[in-house]
This record gives sequence, structure tokens and C-alpha cells, in this order.
Amino acid sequence: MKNRTFTMIKPDAMKNGHAGAILDKIIKAGFRIVALKQLQLSKEKAGTFYEVHKERPFYGELVDFMSSGLIIAAILEKENAVAEFRTLIGATDPSKADEGTIRKLFATSMGENAVHGSDSDENAQIEGSFFFSGLEQY
Ligand code: RTP
Ligand code: MG
Repeated sequence: MKNRTFTMIKPDAMKNGHAGAILDKIIKAGFRIVALKQLQLSKEKAGTFYEVHKERPFYGELVDFMSSGLIIAAILEKENAVAEFRTLIGATDPSKADEGTIRKLFATSMGENAVHGSDSDENAQIEGSFFFSGLEQY
């Protein structure tokens, strides 16, 4: 059964000119775009999005980074979307990511790692509706 995941192309990848190549890989991997937009997160919105990491030492840095420039947010659909997308993006730390993954190809560091991918169906739903209304999802 087809299901959905949520992704962001993060400010490092946007600034480094990788957005087009990343979207190309996502589409070629068989994901259908349900919703997509470019925006810049405020610190407050970035803080809310990553609230689960509030107690972690990297939280402040993460919020500053995610609000530092434009991002592209998107909802994607494919069979087994959450797991398939995590495989496509690779490990959080790009130096540990498999060859050919988006983070291996385009990320610069653990903090600035090019893309976000939801970690569960439940979080995909929460994250997608944080950015998109029902009317914006096709
Ligand atoms: P994401 O949520 O962005 O898809 O990344 P992830 O699941 O692979 O990793 P997660 O543990 O959820 O961490 C969220 C983001 O926080 C930054 N981070 N920095 N400096 C550090 O030790 C560290 N650890 C995590 C990364 O940008 C990571 O993607
Ligand atoms: Mg995560």
C-alpha cells in the first residue's frame, strides 16, 4: 500500500545549489510529489518542528541552521515511503552514509546534512500537516 513521508531540502543544500539534483533523485527513485513549496522557517517555527530534540545539546544549533535560509518542504508518496526515503537519504552523519545516497552526495556535516526525512508514519503525518493544509495536498 502506498503511504507518505515528509521531507525538507535543508538550507545548506539550497545554498550549495543542490535542490534540483536532489529533487531529480527523489523523483527517479519513484516518489510522487503530493505537495511542495519553498519557504524560510522562523526560529520559532524551526524550534517547534524539532521540539522532540529540545533537550539535546545540538538543539540551538539545529534551530539556528534550519532558520538560516530557504528550504523546500514536500510530502512524498510511495509504497513503504518512510523506510524507502530513509534508505535514499542515508545516515544522519554523511561520512557514515552509503555510497549514492543523498547525504553522501550532497551533505557537508552531521549538522548540515542536506535533507530531512520523517522517521515514522505518525511523524510523517504530523510534519506534513505542519507545512501543508489538506487543500495543498494532491
Ligand atoms: P532528520 O530528522 O533531519 O531527518 O535527521 P535524522 O532523523 O537523520 O537525525 P535526528 O536524530 O532526527 O536529528 C535531527 C537533525 O539534528 C541534527 N543533528 N546534529 N551535531 C549533532 O550531533 C547532531 N545530531 C543531529 C542533524 O541535522 C539531524 O539531521
Ligand atoms: Mg529525525
